[in-house]
Amino acid sequence: MIRRDEGGRGAPAASEPTSPGTTGASPAPAAAESAGAILVPVPGMAPQAAVTETAASPLRRWRWYQRLHAWTLARGSARYQAAVDGRLRELFGGLRGDVLEIGPGSGRNLAYFDRSVRWFGVEPNPFAREYLRREAARLGLTAEVLDGTAECLPVADRSMDAVAASLVLCTVRDVDAVLAEVRRVLRPGGRFVFIEHVAAPEGTLQRRLQRLCRRPHALLADGCQLDRETWAAIERAGFSSVEIAHFRLPIPLVGPHIAGAAVK
Ligand SMILES: C[S@@+](CC[C@H](N)C(=O)[O-])C[C@H]1O[C@@H](n2cnc3c(N)ncnc32)[C@H](O)[C@@H]1O
Repeated sequence: MIRRDEGGRGAPAASEPTSPGTTGASPAPAAAESAGAILVPVPGMAPQAAVTETAASPLRRWRWYQRLHAWTLARGSARYQAAVDGRLRELFGGLRGDVLEIGPGSGRNLAYFDRSVRWFGVEPNPFAREYLRREAARLGLTAEVLDGTAECLPVADRSMDAVAASLVLCTVRDVDAVLAEVRRVLRPGGRFVFIEHVAAPEGTLQRRLQRLCRRPHALLADGCQLDRETWAAIERAGFSSVEIAHFRLPIPLVGPHIAGAAVK
């Protein structure tokens, strides 16, 4: 287990391409949704029904809220993007083979993936899924967008060469369950790459502010938990190696970040 602090950089290497669907999983579900992206067989199980309720913010049950959230994610923040661009290039751009992104939102990260990857995304927000399909088609990425949640991935055991996550583990209902799922779907030696905002160090003013704002922020920001110690969850998730860099962006409340890679 390697931990690097402030200013350090995660150093994930590319995973080797392997052929998909070698897991004994059931064949491609007909339920695959298409909207212009090139579709390939899902190397796994059929998407599970009724897993779109991810608790967190009660506002999520309103379609207008989901629509607004998807639109906000699609617009993104140029400043944030510039701040994480190098890390995303390094983390996501080095992946090969079958790659699953959990909570890909409206597709902000799709441009970082190598065009040779077969990309799968599990996204509970139906409006975001529309953006994803359009963006994948625009980029010519071999992509399949799946309904579901990261706590219960509609993907077979050991079917993915890599799993990617950005700004998702703050929002999921059960981070330990999600990480167990990530390990389940990775092939042996597969990589989990991530970039997440996290809790500020204990005892700091920023941590106190995060705690104070936790509930209203979660309500408005789709269940996002400001003070989640995500690095600790990744470290205890049972990966064979974990490399995490801690760094800080100049953003109120969500400045503390981690980025890195864990190997199954
Ligand atoms: C803050 S957004 C980040 C989106 C994208 N990863 C990015 O970096 O732009 C969090 C995303 O996670 C999705 N999400 C929330 N709960 C989830 C869950 N339990 N499983 C999978 N995705 C989830 C949301 O719908 C949303 O698209």
